[in-house]
Amino acid sequence: MTTFDLRHEGRTGIEMGLGVGPQKMLGWPYTDFATGWYVIGYSHEIKAGEVKPAKWFGEDLVVFRTESGVLSVLNAYCPHMGAHLGRPGQFGGGVCGETLKCPWHGWLWSTEGHNVDIPYRPGQPVKAQVGRKHVSEVDGVIMMWYDHAGGAPTYEWPGFPYIGDKSDYYPIDTTVDGPHLAKPQFPFENSADPHHFKHVHGSGLDAEFNDYDVDGPVAKNTMTLVFGAGKDESWLTPDGPIEGYVDNFFWGASLGIARFRIGELVCIHLPTLTPVDDDQCIFFSTVTGTREPGDTGDVPRGRSGKFMKAQHWQIRNDFHIWQHMSYKVKPIYTGTEEQTRYAFIRRHFDQFYPNPVYKRG
Ligand code: FES
Ligand SMILES: [Fe+2]
Repeated sequence: MTTFDLRHEGRTGIEMGLGVGPQKMLGWPYTDFATGWYVIGYSHEIKAGEVKPAKWFGEDLVVFRTESGVLSVLNAYCPHMGAHLGRPGQFGGGVCGETLKCPWHGWLWSTEGHNVDIPYRPGQPVKAQVGRKHVSEVDGVIMMWYDHAGGAPTYEWPGFPYIGDKSDYYPIDTTVDGPHLAKPQFPFENSADPHHFKHVHGSGLDAEFNDYDVDGPVAKNTMTLVFGAGKDESWLTPDGPIEGYVDNFFWGASLGIARFRIGELVCIHLPTLTPVDDDQCIFFSTVTGTREPGDTGDVPRGRSGKFMKAQHWQIRNDFHIWQHMSYKVKPIYTGTEEQTRYAFIRRHFDQFYPNPVYKRG
């Protein structure tokens, strides 16, 4: 096929109508994002004295870290005349001590978004305030609170659910990509879906699930599955198949963890989607695992290193399904067990949206 449009990305003529205009998640019932914590980056990406522009939840933002190390996320536009605070120029703007300086007329803004100084009217700041976001940094992950009603955080994320000593784990390994047409709760609906592992992830057997356990904004459950099923040996299971566990922890509809336990090996995976706008999300995959016996280095090695790497790509097999699907609020269930599990986890996520669609009780 000859084409003069270099943006066809290898599609044939039949497929050329795809990807025209904004993509939507068909069937999605919610009118706003779910309230909760969302990953927006990593601590090492922003050093003391640095400022970066960002866009999350359809809003232009600025992320900066003061000279003393305080992290702040503010609305991007200066209340004075509207300059973007995250675009320092050759002569001005950027972090200035514990404040952020506007690149246009040099007004200073605190980490809370208050005006603290106007250089040509000393000692008389204005009452104007830049919109400020709640941020948190735990275990090297930066999170921002989104609240559809504009409220403050109602819980804190406790960090990775380490088993034993944190120093026995490798430093976090991270990958980021997107935008993806997917919703933040999709990775966590995996925990209610034993029958997709074989088809989407190539695993040998279906998983078995325990019941969910709920504590306020947190839902937990455990899946049991046989690693290396049907094989005499594999890199993960050199001594033959072994029964292992995946503990799932979900905070709100957007922050979830799968903790794998396979004998002595523990691997903790935080796969999260953060909305850029109504339809597209960026995918953050953060993983850590127990150090190989005797290894004191920071480069993941052996089975643990391999398993950590595998988490980054395993979850990506799901994206293929998500980006082309039409979301069913009422799927066809094959039995009460499946229905109960799905209904439970979806009702849990449902409470964080402004227009719940599932009945309580
Ligand atoms: S626009 Fe920011 S100081 Fe004037
Ligand atoms: Fe999956």
